[in-house]
Amino acid sequence: MEWNASLYDDKHRFVAEYGKDLLECIPHDPEQAILDLGCGTGILTARLFNLGNRVVGIDSSHSMIEKAKDQFPEIEFRVCNALNLPFEQEFDVVFSNAVFHWIDDHDLLIKNISNSLKSSGFLVCEFGAHGNIKTIETAFSETCNKFGYNYKSKFHFSTVDDFANLLEKNKFKIEKIYDYDRPTVLGDGEYGLVNWMKQFFSFELANMLMDMQNAIFENVEKTCRDTIWNGKEWVADYRRLRAIAHK
Ligand code: BEZ
Repeated sequence: MEWNASLYDDKHRFVAEYGKDLLECIPHDPEQAILDLGCGTGILTARLFNLGNRVVGIDSSHSMIEKAKDQFPEIEFRVCNALNLPFEQEFDVVFSNAVFHWIDDHDLLIKNISNSLKSSGFLVCEFGAHGNIKTIETAFSETCNKFGYNYKSKFHFSTVDDFANLLEKNKFKIEKIYDYDRPTVLGDGEYGLVNWMKQFFSFELANMLMDMQNAIFENVEKTCRDTIWNGKEWVADYRRLRAIAHK
């Protein structure tokens, strides 16, 4: 999926806002090197910049990295594939917010993280847990079927057990791992859910005529209204998996 970095920062800044809480899991150490894996437009990388000596942001999207470089020219940003990281024992911390659910092969991902970490390094991550956005995804899938399209989820929302098993298989020692509900206001009032679908289902919508897209949006809104509309805003049923694990 190619990301629209401007739309992302304009309408989905809440992704980084929520990530600020995750930053509190990282101690301030002027000597440490931190990798921000899946840095997007660099908003959290800029926060990490104050916590260590070397901070690098990587993302697979060229447009995200271009915007990150524009916004924070003093920080090192690189386009990299998380499943083929070019780092060998270079980082004390690998940090990642709201990224792993985009990556199918968590085993290979954890191997790449392990290679990138120094022997005493650790991983701090949070991403969509099993059951994340179930209301929206189910409504979108059923609506696509109704209009003759086939929706196949591209997300990998892991269970705690599955992710813990992979960490341990790759010799990580788990300090903390848990999942939790994090209802998330989508912002922009009545338009929040449509904005969200335009960004995160852009691949599925790309080949549909505008009238079809609008019919799908309308039907998804109708289906979800009883569950995730609070009268003022759409509140998405996000669930998070948070882990801290040492190499
Ligand atoms: C998430 O952060 O949980 C998420 C964001 C976009 C699409 C799916 C999940």
